[in-house]
Amino acid sequence: MLKRKDLLGLRDLSKDEMLQILGTAVEMKEIIESGNKKTGHLVGKNVVTLFYENSTRTRTSFETAAKIMSANCTSISASASSVQKGETLIDTGLNLDALLTDVIVLRHSMSGAPHLLARNVRASVINGGDGMNEHPTQALLDIFTMREEFGDELRGLKVVIAGDVKHSRVARSNIWGLSKLGAELTVVSPRTLLPLEIEKTGVKVSDNLDEAISGANVVMGLRVQLERQNASLLPSVSEYMRFYGITDSRMAKADAQAILMHPGPLNRNVEVSSSAADGDNSRILKQVTNGVAVRMALMYLLCGGSV
Ligand code: CP
Repeated sequence: MLKRKDLLGLRDLSKDEMLQILGTAVEMKEIIESGNKKTGHLVGKNVVTLFYENSTRTRTSFETAAKIMSANCTSISASASSVQKGETLIDTGLNLDALLTDVIVLRHSMSGAPHLLARNVRASVINGGDGMNEHPTQALLDIFTMREEFGDELRGLKVVIAGDVKHSRVARSNIWGLSKLGAELTVVSPRTLLPLEIEKTGVKVSDNLDEAISGANVVMGLRVQLERQNASLLPSVSEYMRFYGITDSRMAKADAQAILMHPGPLNRNVEVSSSAADGDNSRILKQVTNGVAVRMALMYLLCGGSV
């Protein structure tokens, strides 16, 4: 079991805790690969997915994981809940406690919302993505996918994260998680899409994808978050693709065994060419399947399970 109530980010998760989740996820992956879609790991537990922002992968992945492990699973969208009548996040959480909830998976547009909820409810809170802060389970499934590909030891693995780093909670969680495992990280982005003082996290920074991708083991594209571009941070989408798009010819500059990753949803031919996204090096859909195993492991361990 994990000696913590909540999973709010990888910044405050220890390396040992990360390895515990990733190790348990290996066993969960074996279960789902065997074709077994019903286990007893979470019999009698109630899981609620509480999403204030849209989602396809994260929400479905948590709900699939909960149902495979025989939890009762309820899905709440803010747009169809009493949030629309003015109920606060804390009051919503207290009511979910009163409804015998064991795990709340929260996605929210405000950075820090899961931390606020976690301080006020009895249930375990899992951050399903908060604003521009963190998306810890996405990074855990990304790291799981890299370990499947390159072995458990990621020290020295050359990882390039390319795209809209400024708005990306996925990038932040990967930076925290991969740094703890000793990977060599380079973030590549136009200067307008880089957070201030990103270098202080220890990553290398570049605005030249053609140079940075050379010899990389992992190339991770980030979605251009068109909905968060309230300032004119990009000259144009076509110019972005020309300088920062991940294409077959750019992938050819990476290591011969390099893999292409992307958290989704993918803007085809904006941050990644369709051909690269569907190519042999792409692990984009494998990441999605691995997300089920990682979320099974996390919920099981938070609910007191051990392997
Ligand atoms: N990767 C990810 O968070 O996708 P969704 O927004 O579809 O959940």
